Amino acid sequence: MERYITIRQPQHVQIGSGSAAQIGLWAADAQKVLVLTSKSTALLVEHLQLKQSAEIYSYVPAEPDDYALQAALEHAALHRPDVIIGLGGGSVMDIAKLVSVMWGGSQRLEEIIGADKVLKRFSKLALIPTTAGTGSEAGIRALVTNSKTQAKMAVESRLMCADLAILDPDLTLSVSPSLTAFTGIDAMAHCVEAFTNIRSHQMIDGYARMGFSAVGKYLGRVVADKSDSQARLGMMLASYYGGICLGPVNTAAGHALAYPLGTKLKLAHGLANALMFPHVLGFNQPVCPDKTNEVLSALGGAKTENSASAHKQAYDFCESLSIDMNLSNYGAQASHLRAWAEEAFAIRRLMDNNPREMTVDDIEQIYQNAL
Ligand SMILES: [Fe+2]
Repeated sequence: MERYITIRQPQHVQIGSGSAAQIGLWAADAQKVLVLTSKSTALLVEHLQLKQSAEIYSYVPAEPDDYALQAALEHAALHRPDVIIGLGGGSVMDIAKLVSVMWGGSQRLEEIIGADKVLKRFSKLALIPTTAGTGSEAGIRALVTNSKTQAKMAVESRLMCADLAILDPDLTLSVSPSLTAFTGIDAMAHCVEAFTNIRSHQMIDGYARMGFSAVGKYLGRVVADKSDSQARLGMMLASYYGGICLGPVNTAAGHALAYPLGTKLKLAHGLANALMFPHVLGFNQPVCPDKTNEVLSALGGAKTENSASAHKQAYDFCESLSIDMNLSNYGAQASHLRAWAEEAFAIRRLMDNNPREMTVDDIEQIYQNAL
């Protein structure tokens, strides 16, 4: 029997070029607006056309840890906002979600790690992505790095569901071609890892198909020509669909293997995922050949019954986006790989989702092949 799932999405989603300006109307009655953003996205605040002066906090770092969260919380507690707007990539949106449910209460981060432990929300929440990749605006999960262990901690709560999400492709215009490629592969990885997941579901499969098909159609176009507005919107939607896939199904081995690369080599999340994507798709091919073929077809490849061919086609797709796919070029050495493989293997919340069991030896071999 198919398992029971719940899909939670933002109450309102506004989509289209220039739609970020609509937030002014939505927040018109707010007394105090706090915009959480990052150094690189703070300039985009002018797109919001807020009616009132807002407090702008632009210190959310990439891959935020508990200290970064604490700093944002202290700022929010001083300002006491009735509306919080997260304007940025996944890191910013995740921090905005957490701040909205933590700033006015006594629950500490350790008490809300896991599912459904959050008791209350203290501000209305709008999420506005400035990259097409994480899909954080669509979902109810937030990730923070543990500063002691460098492991990712996940908080999941329906109270972190946005009241409003805005998908405005104009906000991604200043993103570099390489970051566009990395974030686009992240969106695809969310869709593909949910699609081939042991916990996959036919409804989420539908969103996943829309997502990886859009990536196949639009990512190459937008990397080649950032003024291609149709492709830019297509990638925003792919990212959103990927975000929906993360809710009831989530990712699997691809993301688990990418995490040590992100923390040890300080690689962008999307790049780490791109480096692992072809290897994990090839590894999983024997247990989900039909779904693998659907993915390959959407990416412009050919159907195959062969794991090596699935790997090669996915690898070529990533290389066609000018991504350097050699792990050694980012500082990885053979002597690192065993410890990273053990670390990835221990991320059971994701590894247990993988359709084919992967041992520590298998993971080390994948890293070795990616060198
Ligand atoms: Fe991701």
